Amino acid sequence: MRSKVTKAIFPVAGLGTRFLPATKSVPKEIMTLVDRPLIQYAIDEARAAGIKEFIFVTSRGKGALEDYFDHSPQLEQELRKKGKNDLLDALKDTNMDSGAIAYIRQHKALGLGHAVWCARRLIANEPFAVILPDDVIAAEKPCLQQMVEAYEETGGSMVAAMEVPPEKASAYGVLDIKEDMGSLVSVKGMVEKPKADEAPSNLAVIGRYILTPDVLRSLNKMKQGAGGEIQLTDAIAQEIEENRNVYGLRFRGQRFDCGSKAGFLQATVAFGLSRDDLKDELRAYLHDLMASEKAAQ
Ligand code: UTP
Repeated sequence: MRSKVTKAIFPVAGLGTRFLPATKSVPKEIMTLVDRPLIQYAIDEARAAGIKEFIFVTSRGKGALEDYFDHSPQLEQELRKKGKNDLLDALKDTNMDSGAIAYIRQHKALGLGHAVWCARRLIANEPFAVILPDDVIAAEKPCLQQMVEAYEETGGSMVAAMEVPPEKASAYGVLDIKEDMGSLVSVKGMVEKPKADEAPSNLAVIGRYILTPDVLRSLNKMKQGAGGEIQLTDAIAQEIEENRNVYGLRFRGQRFDCGSKAGFLQATVAFGLSRDDLKDELRAYLHDLMASEKAAQ
């Protein structure tokens, strides 16, 4: 029987330079899409996929992230007194069971592969998920849940894959496809940030992974790769070298790159428009804005 995926690593130790000066004092993962921080979307997705243990790889200045998951008795008491049950409910999602959450420090931002490796002792010998909270995915069935279901059929390591236009491929890790089985592809290679004319396909890896413990063993031996960082992609590519199966899943859903300003703004509009309490006002505003822009042209 395949082991269940019950642990997830959330690498949140990056510097978030694209959002400076905001990220000088606010961790990127605490920035809010409508009224919830990015990290809450990631946690909700992990819970839906059956994750029970949440491992954060953090760094200096991420204290607000740790506080976010603490209980807040004073605030809760105040809301209870005022009968604000809807807000109390909203707070419930931020609470974690005792022992379900762990924080590990990455002392230097040496790359995503290194961040994952920092959590190795908490993973031991079982498959685990990796979620990058910058990638927010709107989907009927949460992306990680789709991956866990596919993983239960295939085993091996699995990455979430998304089609991108050729000129954008150089911003991603790109899959070299062995066999295309529809939503699932088996992978014979992976290239991190290829030059535009050297991308082996248009299938890019985004921030969701299910990995076997072998990947951690590869990370043990990893040297710095593209951009001087220890790349997770290189460790997954090593799996293929050693004849272990790696798959890509074309997930169903819309991914927003909330690590970039444009992506974050798009996500804000899209999530705002999906909210019953906001959509009419927001739609009317956007409509008027477009109309006045057109008139000015
Ligand atoms: P990014 O490439 O988006 O880097 O990392 P960043 O530092 O967060 O942001 P910019 O580019 O400076 O604006 C992708 C994910 O990997 C984590 C980040 O926290 C983010 O979730 N990461 C990256 C680490 O945890 N450690 C690292 O050394 C690098």
